[in-house]
Amino acid sequence: MSTAKVLVVDDKENMLKLFGRILGDGYSVTTASDGARALALLAEESFDVVVTDLRMPGADGFQVLQATKQRSPETEVILMTAYASVSDAVEAIRQGAYDYLQKPFDPDAAVLVVARALERKRLKEQAASLRREVQGVYGFANIIGKSPRMRDAFQQIEQAARHDITVLLLGETGTGKELVARATHYASARKDGPFVPVNCGALPSDLVESELFGHAKGAFTGAAGAKPGLFEEAQGGTLFLDEVGELPLPVQVKLNRALQEREIRRVGENAPTKVNVRVIAATHRDLKAEAQAGRFREDLFYRLHVFPVLLPPLRERREDVPLLAAHFLAKHCKAYQREVEVFEPEALRALVGYSWPGNVRELENVIERAIAVTACKRIALQDLPAELREPQGQGTLPAEELAKMSYREAIDSARDAASRAYLVALLRSTGGNVTRAAERAVMERESLHRLLRKFGVRSEDFKSDD
Ligand SMILES: Nc1ncnc2c1ncn2[C@@H]1O[C@H](COP(=O)(O)OP(=O)(O)OP(=O)(O)O)[C@@H](O)[C@H]1O
Ligand SMILES: [Mg+2]
Repeated sequence: MSTAKVLVVDDKENMLKLFGRILGDGYSVTTASDGARALALLAEESFDVVVTDLRMPGADGFQVLQATKQRSPETEVILMTAYASVSDAVEAIRQGAYDYLQKPFDPDAAVLVVARALERKRLKEQAASLRREVQGVYGFANIIGKSPRMRDAFQQIEQAARHDITVLLLGETGTGKELVARATHYASARKDGPFVPVNCGALPSDLVESELFGHAKGAFTGAAGAKPGLFEEAQGGTLFLDEVGELPLPVQVKLNRALQEREIRRVGENAPTKVNVRVIAATHRDLKAEAQAGRFREDLFYRLHVFPVLLPPLRERREDVPLLAAHFLAKHCKAYQREVEVFEPEALRALVGYSWPGNVRELENVIERAIAVTACKRIALQDLPAELREPQGQGTLPAEELAKMSYREAIDSARDAASRAYLVALLRSTGGNVTRAAERAVMERESLHRLLRKFGVRSEDFKSDD
């Protein structure tokens, strides 16, 4: 992170000196001794935070506020004012100032307000840059991902869409197999034809055959009239055979024949019907192993395995988590008509660090729930489910995950995990008694409370009921 640039505007020399001293090394402080000088500086360069007196010769604080917001709307402005003009300060906040300091103020309070303003500016920038990234992602508009693994997948999907071949989508639950199947269809030459999804695992085994291939009138008890199957329904389009690994073996034989000969036979009928259908199949199983174990026909395996596309689990492409999280945040805020803007850094790190056994679907559920439970405009660690707040493993991620992070991200995430693990152990040892925990930690009770809130650790969770 670069050094934050702060402009301090006041006609009192000692006030300018005070800020120079209290803000110290973490900030690069520029000063202006009147409003006019401030406006000149603002025209030349941009600042992260502007702290300005309200009443000054030259231009007053309102004009400085206006000029700042005109030049860079994301810069935060803090007003300083004597008691008599607090109503002016309130008006300034209505016009977009971040906060005000009432003179005389405690230097610590001033440092805190500047730090908060800066944090807010950075969170806003984070949100804006994620939004830009989400809009600029490759390939298919609604499939989010920029990791090398997803880029490979996008390339394969594009090829699959261009060529009229059988596609086999592989991946754990929630990795986007159905989403990709639809995208492939709608990006293909068959896009004006039907897309017919079938969940092979959900059909009762004695009905699968007639569902897929249709049946003749009176073919079996209950078959009152003739009925075309899903293959025929998909004429000219795409048939999506989801959970293809669950098909009963006898139906696998017929499916293999249909794919080979491009024709089907309705149950109870001898004459074949030509079908012009592209098949996209999906499974979360290892079909090759299934074939070796005799649960899946080997000939069908090879017929489906023409163009396999593997959708990687989310834990192997953690760099996609912030993008997906921002995408789902925008999506569900719209649905709930809420204005949740960003994630607290700790919350984002917990999202990135989690192992996501349910993959993207689980991530979407977590974000949706967090939007529903959060009381403010940011999603904090405590808005996330307990399993995400628990320290992951030893606090260090596997080497290949670590290597994908910047040094700073890696250290921050390790420190978060260590802090959380410490707080949990500490409170467990005192049975949730914060006063005793603070003594043991050799820190102020208030500071410990702040840490507990920051890391979403609740003392109540450690108290026994009796
Ligand atoms: N890369 C992605 N970008 C945006 N949304 C995604 C992405 N991957 C998955 N999703 C969303 O996650 C949810 C789960 O995806 P989908 O149903 O396609 O998974 P699946 O692999 O078919 O899972 P299952 O094996 O459990 O059926 C859907 O709501 C989908 O829109
Ligand atoms: Mg699915």
